[in-house]
Amino acid sequence: MKYYHVPQGFKWGVATAANQVEGAWNEDGKGISIADCERYDPEKARAGYRAVNSMTSSEIKLAMAEKDSKRWGKRHGVDFYHQYPEDIKKLAATGINTFRTSIAWSRIFPNGDESKPNEKGLEFYDKLFNELRKYNIEPVVTLSHYEMPLNLVLNYDAWYDLRVREFFIKFAKIVIDRFHDKVKYWIPINEIDSILRHPFSSAGLIRDRFINENFEKVIYQAMHNQFVAAATITKYIHETYSDIQVGSMITSTMIYPYNSDPRNSLKSVQLMRESYNFSDIQIRGKYPLNLVPKLKNLHIEISKEDLDLISKNTADFIAFSYYSSVCTAFDTKGLKVTKANRMEGVYNKYLPTSDWGWQIDPVGLRIILINLYDRYQKPLFIVENGLGAKDSLTASGKIHDDYRIDYLRQHIKQMLVSIQNDGIELMGYCMWGMTDMISASTSQISKRYGLIYVDLDDFGDGTYKRYLKDSYFWYQKLLSFKNKISKDFLDK
Ligand code: BG6
Repeated sequence: MKYYHVPQGFKWGVATAANQVEGAWNEDGKGISIADCERYDPEKARAGYRAVNSMTSSEIKLAMAEKDSKRWGKRHGVDFYHQYPEDIKKLAATGINTFRTSIAWSRIFPNGDESKPNEKGLEFYDKLFNELRKYNIEPVVTLSHYEMPLNLVLNYDAWYDLRVREFFIKFAKIVIDRFHDKVKYWIPINEIDSILRHPFSSAGLIRDRFINENFEKVIYQAMHNQFVAAATITKYIHETYSDIQVGSMITSTMIYPYNSDPRNSLKSVQLMRESYNFSDIQIRGKYPLNLVPKLKNLHIEISKEDLDLISKNTADFIAFSYYSSVCTAFDTKGLKVTKANRMEGVYNKYLPTSDWGWQIDPVGLRIILINLYDRYQKPLFIVENGLGAKDSLTASGKIHDDYRIDYLRQHIKQMLVSIQNDGIELMGYCMWGMTDMISASTSQISKRYGLIYVDLDDFGDGTYKRYLKDSYFWYQKLLSFKNKISKDFLDK
């Protein structure tokens, strides 16, 4: 066989999130969001990648007192808010037909609790989606991607608060009604399992605001509130718009047993199950039995109506991010540690490691595809996959990122092999990201993911000028093959 075959209608795209690229943090009526309070801190970054896994009230105060945006990466992003027509033009020239992004809640409801939306915010997304449609690019839109109005954290109890859940549903219905003819794929909550790893960026939860409560209970109650919100939105979409699909979205980090000791295999199954629990709820429509005792012990308030809603309004497809893998063992003492997407695990000696310590594992992607499809028999969608790496700009304006090309080539090859041999159903692949953007975990831009380089450093200095990387031209070549990708191109 000379070709890898791509299914008809396959979605090839790029992915991003509003808070990591838009900037314009206080323009056209946008309110301050939790992401606007996160900044790159070299010391914290040296100590690990957990910089924004949690935040304290005093850190928020400090952020609010600072009116400048330069040192706050997510405030300036890469200026996509102003430069999106040019960026989309460049991306369209690669041949993509899909673009995943999110709508910033704080652009539509600056404080989250207003009675009417901010028209200027809606207009921005009108223009953005029109621009995408102009090039026949399908938008895939996330409603909650590590961004919420800060007011809902300071004057309410963030996602722990039922009023906030209702504000989110209201925001969702307004944008769905406004953009239903332009956006046919919606994801209510990005990496819905991530609330357990980073309750601040996923749900606005700050530990010191709940000193009289069990913080674990707070997190699990907020998790339940997110499931109810997602099910309500799914119900609304299915009842109102017959041509729109809704996705569940989870983080998929492959977790292997460190060796063939059965106790290590058991540990790996248990850890993988922790993230599958989240898609189980959104696809099978009920809390898995392994989670029920925990919810009972923590006295999580779950009504019969909630359970009924969750069971009747399940997602149409399973979206997931995949970057890397780790190993695990029942006793990790003395074993070398490796990093992954805001977690750590045991180092795998068979795999190379990225500049940020994440292990590169294309075969892991194929295993995840098989696992998820065997579990649900529903269409899958890879909505994030990419390499965060240090890039350098040459004097002649080039970026020779052969390591990124290699990463993409190997992952895409495993994906196509899986489609061909494993009997899986895959809707599409969006590489993370588009231009370089501000890292979700460390707020750095030097952890570059894009096909397009942005001249900017971790401290906000630079011209914001764009340069096409070698990977841009590689992705363009890949997409030029259409439905038959030459083996030579992917096998080398
Ligand atoms: C995913 C998030 O988990 O990982 C993205 O959905 C994030 O928002 C991506 O950017 C990569 O992580 P990081 O921390 O390297 O930006």
